[in-house]
Amino acid sequence: MHFSVITLFPEMVESVVNGGVVGRASKRGLMNMTCINPRDYAEDVHRTVDDRPYGGGPGMVMRPDCLLRAIRDERNKFGDCKVIYMTPQGRPLQQSMLEGLAKVDNVILLCGRYEGIDERVITLEVDEEWSVGDYVLSGGELAAMIVIDGTTRLLPEVLGHTESAVQDSFSDGILDHPHYTRPEKIEDLEVPEVLLSGNHKLIEQWRRQQALGRTQLRRPALLQEKELSGQDKQLLDDFMKEIKTSEVKS
Ligand code: ADE
Repeated sequence: MHFSVITLFPEMVESVVNGGVVGRASKRGLMNMTCINPRDYAEDVHRTVDDRPYGGGPGMVMRPDCLLRAIRDERNKFGDCKVIYMTPQGRPLQQSMLEGLAKVDNVILLCGRYEGIDERVITLEVDEEWSVGDYVLSGGELAAMIVIDGTTRLLPEVLGHTESAVQDSFSDGILDHPHYTRPEKIEDLEVPEVLLSGNHKLIEQWRRQQALGRTQLRRPALLQEKELSGQDKQLLDDFMKEIKTSEVKS
């Protein structure tokens, strides 16, 4: 999979391949990323990439000409590309969007700065607009890095068996269960007994119940979108009853 990132701050985005899972995937040739600086497509002596907004107002807008040239050059190099503009006005990012993107061979991520980019670039060349959440970053770079990281770890062969993405939070549309490692006791807190039982069926059931319970407590809307099995409903019911009883006791 290839990512082309159009950014005024290539050195910032390049750090995403410097280490961790993405770094390893890039070294193994499972993905690669190139950054394109729109400044390299500016034609004036000052290499200007922004200009004042028509209609007045504060801030500057990224000029369409350099961006269009940069995007079209990438399209010519890579053929069929999906172009995504990172913006707080975009569709809120979800795991399913990353899963879809992991099936695409060539992606162009467009990072805005200042007040944004000229709307005509979006009309002419952008396929989708994505947001990483309802807050405003100073540019699309961190958002693009989130997309690169979240997508790369879903590519075939990137994660080893022990890191498998199958058990991630959200892989099943719900949150993950809690995790424990040694020691068995720390500052009065003990590992739940069932995890020490060696009974894999019971452990699986406990984890499923914890995952459902946490989702109900922290992100109830996620469960409303799901059709739970009879067994899941029972696990969740028992979890909520348990919570209520412990609330009454304390
Ligand atoms: N650029 C600035 N803020 C952003 C956000 N929340 N998501 C995507 N791109 C952005």
